Amino acid sequence: MNFWQEILAEKKMILALSPMDGVSDHPFRYITKKYGKPDLIFSEFANVEGICRSSSTRILDHFDFDPSQHPFVAQIFGKTPAYFKQAAVLLCELGVDGVDVNMGCPAPTVANNGSGAAIIKNPLLAKEIIKAVQEGINEWANGLELKDCPDFSIKMIQAVAAKKAKFSLANANRQKVPTVSVKTRIGYHEEEIATWLPHLLEMRLAAISLHGRTLKQGYSGKADWAVIGRAAELVKSSDPAVTFLGNGDVNSYEEALAKVSEFGVDGVLIGRASFGQPHVFLPQEERIKFLAEKNIFQVALEHAQLYERTYPAAEDYRFLPMRKHLAWYTKGIENAASIRAELVRSNNSAEVEEILSKQHLIVD
Ligand SMILES: Cc1cc2nc3c(=O)[nH]c(=O)nc-3n(C[C@H](O)[C@H](O)[C@H](O)COP(=O)(O)O)c2cc1C
Repeated sequence: MNFWQEILAEKKMILALSPMDGVSDHPFRYITKKYGKPDLIFSEFANVEGICRSSSTRILDHFDFDPSQHPFVAQIFGKTPAYFKQAAVLLCELGVDGVDVNMGCPAPTVANNGSGAAIIKNPLLAKEIIKAVQEGINEWANGLELKDCPDFSIKMIQAVAAKKAKFSLANANRQKVPTVSVKTRIGYHEEEIATWLPHLLEMRLAAISLHGRTLKQGYSGKADWAVIGRAAELVKSSDPAVTFLGNGDVNSYEEALAKVSEFGVDGVLIGRASFGQPHVFLPQEERIKFLAEKNIFQVALEHAQLYERTYPAAEDYRFLPMRKHLAWYTKGIENAASIRAELVRSNNSAEVEEILSKQHLIVD
């Protein structure tokens, strides 16, 4: 059994943190896992060409994770199978539990370049990419090393070793290889699951996650759960071993459970509803307990402190990416506008602490 099937054997559904570029970095995932306990988490995506060819090793930060975040699924995107293969070897070396290929991103910077959701229109390439990832993983299991990959610089190989040391990651076990999965959309211009999904199902994937919008829709309109339901039937009748997750506009544990029973999915990915709300993954009773026992602003401060420790100013990271999270933590709090205005101008966790203490939102 793979880890997707193991979770399903134990629980009513898989509830996962969706991959979110620019949002789901290590500090966000750590806090979400600690307080919300999603069954599994996805990384934000990273471009395979960047992983293989970039002169900077900063792209590896996308995959920063510590042992508390298992099962950890790393997501990659691109259009060149040879880079996918090498990126898969690198992810094996980092010890991720799963490698997920993005075939759903509608952003022009990604899709206009033939990657992300544009791959829906190119099923042959989709299959070549999945095959390349599977080959990379198999060859790694049989002893392939990073230095055997043609595009990795010594600097990148050293950076992988440094990441493993920094996050106390165990040396990867070549007997336990990552799974391969795909996250995609219901179509390009129109819904086209009946022609698109069978291509993916040929590839013996461990899991497929389906966002109920087309590329054309971007994030507008509503996710079409009726189509996701039909896709679930198609997947289950074709290969019941494939774990099938639905995604789009789900705002709570209970809503996810309802989607599972109504539409026959094995689980749900939650994205935007997790902003500033790690507890969104908890059943109602635990959510109420969390909110009664935990001060969300204390959690926000912990998040800011972890952000700063992970990406110190000395490494040339600004505090800027943390600011939006601070704003999200004030969601639903009455008269929060002035606090939010101060938080989004903060430059470090000491300033965050000062703002929150001054407003009596945390106690020293
Ligand atoms: C800021 C942001 C970044 C995203 N980045 C990714 C990404 O890197 N990979 C991916 O597969 N989907 C990405 N998505 C899509 C989400 O994973 C998810 O499919 C979408 O938000 C719908 O789910 P939701 O309604 O629960 O948010 C992103 C979405 C947002 C809002």
